[in-house]
Amino acid sequence: MATVACVRAPRERGEDARVDLDERGLFDHGHEIAVEDGWVYVPVTDPEAVPAEYEIVERHVATRRTQRTPADILGFAPTYERLGDVVLLTEDDPERAQQVADAVMTSDLPVRAVLRRASKVSGEHRTREWELLAGEGTETTYREYGCEYRLDVREVYFSPRLATDRHLVAENVIDGERAIDMFAGVGPFAIPFAKRGAEVAGIDLNPAAVSYLRENARRNGVEDRVTAIEGDVRDVVSEFENEADRLVMNLPHSAADFLDTAVRLADAECVIHYYDIQHESDPFGPGKRAIEAAAGRTGYDTTIETRRRVRSYAPHELNVRIDARLRRG
Ligand SMILES: C[S@@+](CC[C@H](N)C(=O)[O-])C[C@H]1O[C@@H](n2cnc3c(N)ncnc32)[C@H](O)[C@@H]1O
Repeated sequence: MATVACVRAPRERGEDARVDLDERGLFDHGHEIAVEDGWVYVPVTDPEAVPAEYEIVERHVATRRTQRTPADILGFAPTYERLGDVVLLTEDDPERAQQVADAVMTSDLPVRAVLRRASKVSGEHRTREWELLAGEGTETTYREYGCEYRLDVREVYFSPRLATDRHLVAENVIDGERAIDMFAGVGPFAIPFAKRGAEVAGIDLNPAAVSYLRENARRNGVEDRVTAIEGDVRDVVSEFENEADRLVMNLPHSAADFLDTAVRLADAECVIHYYDIQHESDPFGPGKRAIEAAAGRTGYDTTIETRRRVRSYAPHELNVRIDARLRRG
């Protein structure tokens, strides 16, 4: 709130007064118009220049917010995620979802489209369906920890919620390492790894993800250190046998099925970043046992270096990360 000079006009003449003062360059856009007891108070920048027909008073008015948010429009704070200029809603109630979408588009947020989750993540490509509620387009450019990713939410898997965890993983990477992301998506591990000087191979089944991975490597100036390969990681393993100092396995639910492939990719010493989804009663046990078993079968000793709860996935289910160091005995 601030005390400023205002033109006081009867409510029915308030809008005319505001337009007139605005045309004269006297309307103070930095403060809100106030309405009270049948009077409108229009803040002005220079009371001396206001024509004599207007009444000037000093009054407390609110400072104007420059950015109108969806919450300002709705009167409540909606839940949404921003992925570049696309806004993602999880709202179940279709009417409320549409109301939020309209408010997002009317607000001052730089938004091109609002989408609502229309299915669970499913299939080999781990994608989901999205309902377009407002605007147009599902392709966007998203920035995370100094990297830029182009992606289409309908075509590829991507979760901004994993940003912090990805960053924690990337911080371990040192110049000259050889890393393989076995389920690379559009490159949110491969690109920051390469930026830190690693030579990275990113493998993915989804042709759209691989095409974005290549584009994102170029966008971030690391195309010479990122090799993008389309295919099932089990089919390309022979090209990279014993080559990895670091492996990323972000395919929760099924990563255990790929541990035999992982140990073939691993060099004599290798760190595996293994993502899993398990019941909260024992979130790390099944992953730890599966890694130790696969490593043991091929003569590696395993040290579990990190156990991290990444996020809650469903009631009583956790998305976790295990970092395991394998050393050939
Ligand atoms: C959960 S997403 C993770 C993507 C990326 N690492 C990220 O964090 O955004 C899993 C990815 O693995 C890919 N995928 C699934 N099965 C695969 C397989 N057998 N070989 C290679 N990629 C596979 C999917 O297409 C999907 O892009």
